[in-house]
Amino acid sequence: MIIAIGSDHGGFRLKTRIIAHFTDLEFDDVGTGAQESCDYSDYARLVAERVVRGSAQCGIVICGSGIGVSIAANKIRGIRAALCCNEYMAEMSRRHNDANILALGERVMGEELALAIVKRWLEAPFDGGRHQRRIDKMMSLEHADTKHSR
Ligand code: RB5
Repeated sequence: MIIAIGSDHGGFRLKTRIIAHFTDLEFDDVGTGAQESCDYSDYARLVAERVVRGSAQCGIVICGSGIGVSIAANKIRGIRAALCCNEYMAEMSRRHNDANILALGERVMGEELALAIVKRWLEAPFDGGRHQRRIDKMMSLEHADTKHSR
């Protein structure tokens, strides 16, 4: 399994730490490659495109708060990016929402918690069943005619 991973400068340290920690996993690191200031949407886009095209099976995006990368990744059709602040959210985003991208904020959590979140997210399966119906409904919103809805 290939995991696309990307961050801006605000998530660079945590990205480096995740790659160094999970030595048994294969990462496709899309950058950024240094701590100079850059724009989170560029890296969220690179990760999201790899996931929708299938060159990566899932993705991890990181910025300072996790908010910018999660919003940006969710702009790409087919992406379900989940910003997770604890292990419960990580597990449920896989089991109920079939999240294909995990978003993290380096400045809002400790490193050990972030690593535990990544582990739980990668290990949790999608439950399917009624959750698939809800996901289908949710994903159809990408094509919704918002002008004519109630
Ligand atoms: C960069 O300073 C910061 O705004 C960015 O990493 C992120 O937190 C945005 O949502």
